[in-house]
Amino acid sequence: MNEPYGRIAFNDEKRLINVPFLETLDVLDPAQSSDKLVAVDSNDARSRPFNLLRAQIIKKLGPTHGKLIGITSAAPGAGKSFVASNLAASLGMLSNRKTYLLDLDLRRASVAGIFGIRGNVGLTEFLMGDDVELKSIGRRIGTTNLAVFPSYPAMVNSAELMVGDRFESLIAVMRALPADAIVIVDLPPIFANDDAILVAGQLDGVVMIVEQGVTTKKQLQSALQFIEPTPLLGTVFNRFNGGVGDPYGYGGKYEGYYSTKT
Ligand SMILES: Nc1ncnc2c1ncn2[C@@H]1O[C@H](COP(=O)(O)OP(=O)(O)OP(=O)(O)O)[C@@H](O)[C@H]1O
Ligand SMILES: [Mg+2]
Repeated sequence: MNEPYGRIAFNDEKRLINVPFLETLDVLDPAQSSDKLVAVDSNDARSRPFNLLRAQIIKKLGPTHGKLIGITSAAPGAGKSFVASNLAASLGMLSNRKTYLLDLDLRRASVAGIFGIRGNVGLTEFLMGDDVELKSIGRRIGTTNLAVFPSYPAMVNSAELMVGDRFESLIAVMRALPADAIVIVDLPPIFANDDAILVAGQLDGVVMIVEQGVTTKKQLQSALQFIEPTPLLGTVFNRFNGGVGDPYGYGGKYEGYYSTKT
């Protein structure tokens, strides 16, 4: 006998996942962070380039250009996690908007280390659907307006996780945040696997980290083709050698943030 409706299960999982308001998250003391996190103190001169980058990003997004921003590069090691973490920290210093940082470089997750977050249940476990609530993963950074959702390195079939229901829920939760919230997503490099391309397709814009003297023009061009049609918000030239005396290159390294139009 046919039972056309008998086996249909309505999946209302999305409604079970709470939007993780910052107020409900555990607070992490920024003093626990690594020395790579330089943008949590606006008196620190090293935060300057990230504040400039922050201003450019906010300007570029304007009121209508979305809130989900991926940080990627063509090849590994260009400084994605470093820039993503410090940009997010810089955005988190703003009192008028909430910022979320997601580590979606599941295989080489490093954001937890930069912020000094200890644990073993992160976005990977959330995406695997192991009864993990987003709220239990997120950490608010001190009194700032930044919440970090870390991942812990794991050998997983990450590309599969990026197309699952849980991933869809994660994106839906982030989209449901207030209009002025900004979500920074640390991605793997474009040429490592499918992940960055799959995730970028769900985002509102991508920032490409270009490693001065390492990333070739050809690499950059094909990386840009892969992320289409998601808009490129701009590129960050990392380890620019122009700055003298300041390891983070005030007037050097991160000043090289250009929109595609300039
Ligand atoms: N401008 C910089 N100044 C100082 N240290 C930097 C800078 N950029 C990157 N680093 C350091 O270089 C190393 C690699 O950077 P990071 O981990 O951010 O690269 P990534 O692109 O995220 O790498 P992966 O592809 O492995 O995810 C890290 O130790 C990071 O702290
Ligand atoms: Mg990284």
